[in-house]
Amino acid sequence: MGKDVIIACDFPSKEKTLEFLDKFEGEKPFVKIGMELFYAEGPDIVREIKARGHKIFLDLKLHDIPNTVKSAMKVLSSLDVDMVNVHAAGTSAMMKAALEGLTRADGTRPKLIAVTQLTSTDDKALHEELLIDRLMTETVLSYAENARDSGLDGVVCSPHEAGFIHKALGKDFLTVTPGVRFADGSNDDQKRVMTPAHAKEVGSDYIVVGRPITQAEDPVAAYQRCVNDFVGD
Ligand code: C5P
Repeated sequence: MGKDVIIACDFPSKEKTLEFLDKFEGEKPFVKIGMELFYAEGPDIVREIKARGHKIFLDLKLHDIPNTVKSAMKVLSSLDVDMVNVHAAGTSAMMKAALEGLTRADGTRPKLIAVTQLTSTDDKALHEELLIDRLMTETVLSYAENARDSGLDGVVCSPHEAGFIHKALGKDFLTVTPGVRFADGSNDDQKRVMTPAHAKEVGSDYIVVGRPITQAEDPVAAYQRCVNDFVGD
């Protein structure tokens, strides 16, 4: 898989999601299905979007004991999604079990990436609630390193972290980055944002873009703009 724009389909129902995807006519953007849509509609929504020809990042952020995660991943793998994720905080044992569960009989599997620290967690919460006394950047890098050493393909991170993660862990370790905004658009509730063009410069492999596309007056044009800025020459 090369560089690509992943649209975060944060819709509450199948109807709203398909109505949105219908706007793309011949095009088949890579889409992210998160907890809201998956919990509302179940695995059928994944099957339906896959049958329409889209690649799917199923963003369910699994975090449980290794055996439970392994079994759950086996089910997700059978849905033929392209990318799934776990919390690196589940430890290497859990991440390795996730990989085992995902790997199909023929040796193929969806990409598996890890969430390091959620971008909604700040240094104060890290120190005072999670009782981690290292700096956020050190923690993110160490969790990313555990993910790589466990055999995972990459991490979800801020585009502001993509450069140092690639520098430390190699250019082939994927960085999947939300928090992307056009310079002339709204930041919504995202705090540390980056434009698609800048995300390309710093080496993000995939940008995850939701509202700048889903809430745009012309979502297809907004998607094309992202693709041109991020993937184009
Ligand atoms: O609408 P917006 O572009 O902000 O959507 C970003 C998507 O990426 C949302 O689905 C959000 O849940 C997800 N995400 C994020 N920050 C993270 C992890 C996931 O914004 N650290």
